[in-house]
Amino acid sequence: MQALVYRGPGQKALEEMPKPVVRLPTDAVVRVTRTTICGTDLHIMKGDLPTVAAGRILGHEGIGTIDAVGAGVTRFHPGDRVLISCITACGKCEYCRRAMPSHCTDGGWILGNTIDGTQAEFVRIPHADTSLYPLPPGADEDAMVMLSDILPTGYECGVLNGHVQPGDTVAIVGAGPVGLAALLTAQFYTPARIIVIDLDDNRLRVAQQFGATEVVNSTDGHAVERVMRLTAGQGVDVAIEAVGLAGTFALCQDIIGVGGHLANIGVHGTSVTLHLEKLWSQNITITTRLVDAVTTPLLLKTVLAGKIAPQKLVTHHFKLADILQAYDTFGNAGREQALKVILTNP
Ligand SMILES: NC(=O)c1ccc[n+]([C@@H]2O[C@H](COP(=O)([O-])OP(=O)(O)OC[C@H]3O[C@@H](n4cnc5c(N)ncnc54)[C@H](O)[C@@H]3O)[C@@H](O)[C@H]2O)c1
Ligand SMILES: [Zn+2]
Ligand SMILES: [Zn+2]
Repeated sequence: MQALVYRGPGQKALEEMPKPVVRLPTDAVVRVTRTTICGTDLHIMKGDLPTVAAGRILGHEGIGTIDAVGAGVTRFHPGDRVLISCITACGKCEYCRRAMPSHCTDGGWILGNTIDGTQAEFVRIPHADTSLYPLPPGADEDAMVMLSDILPTGYECGVLNGHVQPGDTVAIVGAGPVGLAALLTAQFYTPARIIVIDLDDNRLRVAQQFGATEVVNSTDGHAVERVMRLTAGQGVDVAIEAVGLAGTFALCQDIIGVGGHLANIGVHGTSVTLHLEKLWSQNITITTRLVDAVTTPLLLKTVLAGKIAPQKLVTHHFKLADILQAYDTFGNAGREQALKVILTNP
């Protein structure tokens, strides 16, 4: 089968690889029909994630059809259409039982990381019963792919951890797919205002179409003053960090209001400064989280009911055979005006 293989920092290739097989009774093998590329895959390509070894097939998002199951799989049968979660959950360990399968002792984020992933014609899914979802017939397939990672990440790490409430003023720093997913799902709670901050005017225009009440281009370095002016000097109730840089985490600390919630989503590669000398008395809460993808069933219902339309995040379609071109487009998102790219197979 064809697969996108990581060959070390800066190197990848579309290669002929052996088709995966059922190894454990709880495994399923899925024929991938749609997958996508994540910002995290670009981090891997830069060499930022040492857990990913050369020779690894990348990808942790997608939908497909069950090809084979182990004897212990009871919920799925060959031919079933399934949604693949980016988080593998055994369903039994302490962390799974505490609704934190991101830290599952025999799973977590392993697809396209420590085991072969979804950017291939077939993928092996461990703990299939608790890591796959039945794909509802007639569902928009692009929208379903957004449920593997992007939507639960924006919702769980940003909106839920940020405790978005009716009437709140919310700031989302970063209008990439994850920040935009937080924007879509924050609106479940009818905040009064959602201010989106980014460097890219095209992404800010998309944010306005997706429900941002105000946008701020922070290229000039005056984002803090602009947000404080927009909020009559009070700052925001919820600041969601969806970039992963020290500067954007600092911005969130500068704009958070009294009693506010600062919810970090971004993956940080370097240390950040915590301004406790300013924040100790402000009754704020700071949260961090690795996506658990425990809200996927809830989010699936909102998509099926038409409450959100995450397929709007998809800007490009490619065939799986053209995945190198798709990486080029996604890796130059500003130039290409790209958000999510979908790869179809066949
Ligand atoms: N916590 C988790 O479980 C989890 C899961 C998935 C992704 N992530 C992380 O979430 C973050 C966002 O992911 P994404 O796929 O949307 O990434 P992305 O790179 O597509 O989007 C980041 C956005 O931030 C903007 N940006 C960059 N520098 C900025 C600055 N100084 N000020 C304002 N905006 C700036 C960019 O223009 C871009 O639109 C990444 O760090 C990613 O690794 C975390
Ligand atoms: Zn991802
Ligand atoms: Zn577990």
